[in-house]
Amino acid sequence: MNDDEPGARRIVICDAASFDGIGAATIARSVADAIGRRGHCALALAGGSTPRRVYERLAVPPLREEVDWERVAIFFGDERSVPPDHEDSNYGMAAAALLRHVPIPEASIHRMEAERADRDAAARDYARLLPESLDVLVLGMGGDGHTASLFPHSDALAEAARRVVPARSPAPPHDRLTITPPVIRAAEVVIVLVAGTAKAGILARALEGSSTSAELPIRIVTGGTWVVDRDAARELRGQ
Ligand code: 6PG
Repeated sequence: MNDDEPGARRIVICDAASFDGIGAATIARSVADAIGRRGHCALALAGGSTPRRVYERLAVPPLREEVDWERVAIFFGDERSVPPDHEDSNYGMAAAALLRHVPIPEASIHRMEAERADRDAAARDYARLLPESLDVLVLGMGGDGHTASLFPHSDALAEAARRVVPARSPAPPHDRLTITPPVIRAAEVVIVLVAGTAKAGILARALEGSSTSAELPIRIVTGGTWVVDRDAARELRGQ
């Protein structure tokens, strides 16, 4: 279970040049630990742009060899309502950066079919694929404090029963599918990747402020390991 005590967060601040390697090593170690404990790992990936280079580092030596990829099942925290080969597809980004380069059985890669006309049915189908608890959940944080496709003041933030729901993003692509807060809270390990000056103000509010998770959905994550580059960390106390 993700740490419930506020302040249980582990913040790893690194130079921009080492962000990708440290992010990738953090993921690789968590996945390898899960495999060591349970014989397999349910890994959910984040979308957006920050993780791309991190995934690329996971796809090449030495980190590629640190994970027994045949024991990994891949899931996604959210997806845009576009085809998998679309430039905005989170699956497409992860496939190009990582999934095509490591020996994960195709049947172990579970894409969110957010492009289906009936997104509610797609959400229900995907929820049935999700394990009770993800072993490792990778998340990003948007400039408004959203994570996955849980946007500020959105209905999905109050979802306590369903584990995947349709969502609407203020920025295009607007229509999405997203995991809900119960899935984030149930994850064994959460890794948050945040980089760049543009995220500095919102990250300080997320880690040191008193905003609610309705205002800043990333605050759903009360524990986890946050890999942050110095540009994004610049407004944190003591930086
Ligand atoms: C998405 C992501 C989203 C992302 C943040 C940060 O589908 O957009 O899952 O939650 O992590 O928007 O995106 P960047 O890494 O591009 O800043």
